Amino acid sequence: MQFLKVTPQAEPNIALIELNRPKELNALNLQLMGELRDTLKALDQDPEVRVIILTGNARAFAAGADIKEMAGRTAVDMLNIDQFSTWDQIKKTKKPIIAAVSGFALGGGCELAMTCDMIVASETAQFGQPEIKIGTMPGAGGTQRLTRSVGKQWAMEMVLTGQFMSAEKAYQAGLVNKVVPVELYLSEAFKLARQVAAMSPISVQLAKESVLQAFNLTLNEGLLFERKNFYLTFASEDQKEGMQAFVEKRTPNFKGK
Ligand code: CAA
Repeated sequence: MQFLKVTPQAEPNIALIELNRPKELNALNLQLMGELRDTLKALDQDPEVRVIILTGNARAFAAGADIKEMAGRTAVDMLNIDQFSTWDQIKKTKKPIIAAVSGFALGGGCELAMTCDMIVASETAQFGQPEIKIGTMPGAGGTQRLTRSVGKQWAMEMVLTGQFMSAEKAYQAGLVNKVVPVELYLSEAFKLARQVAAMSPISVQLAKESVLQAFNLTLNEGLLFERKNFYLTFASEDQKEGMQAFVEKRTPNFKGK
């Protein structure tokens, strides 16, 4: 991998992906996004992995798509290269992905964090969709996911002015799960990951899928989808183990079966 550091077992059942293009503030070029697609696909199929943490470094999670790579392209180039198709794997990943964000999460960097399932931020994190300042607009979900997270008014202001949102404001607005001092953001992401990794991976996947459907389906369709996934958990040994452990007043040992 040229632009990623991947540790499939950073801790038992927890994989760590570090964006590693520090001089360019982890700008997301085609090569990096291709590596991320392939890595997520492999980790999603690895039975030893239950949760994935995606991070950058203290200065930057990612400062967006690579402007220098894109600058000279025509619309036909953009259509042919279709760079955002590599992003579809992130959306398709069944295992939960936690973004651990410090510093800049801008443009595609903000969109990448929002495509993950939860965000742990350092106090220095800054979220923004500044594409408008370079004569374009968000293209990897910014107008959709930001609006769903923080509401129309904030999303509109950020997308139309390029203004950044601080970590504290992002927390108040519901964009991030936690804000912690910069030296703790990665360890806090691991804490959250450990909690999820201790659950039945089958239930976690079905529950993640159900939550995400809340954005795609009507309430009635979503409720039906949820109900079927709930019933499906009863096909697993983990459901039997979880309920038996409750009755026996002990910690369940989930095996992903
Ligand atoms: N693409 C390519 N290179 C980038 C980059 C990007 N998105 N962001 C930063 N860099 C590069 C800089 O060009 C610079 O490289 P050089 O040293 O070779 O000049 C290096 O990273 C360090 O950046 P700065 O010197 O600019 O650092 P700074 O601290 O002064 O500013 C910043 C930091 C405010 C993040 C500034 O770099 C910036 O505004 N970056 C661009 C942010 C942006 O517009 N992102 C949206 C991109 S478009 C997009 O993402 C579309 C989409 O929807 C997916």
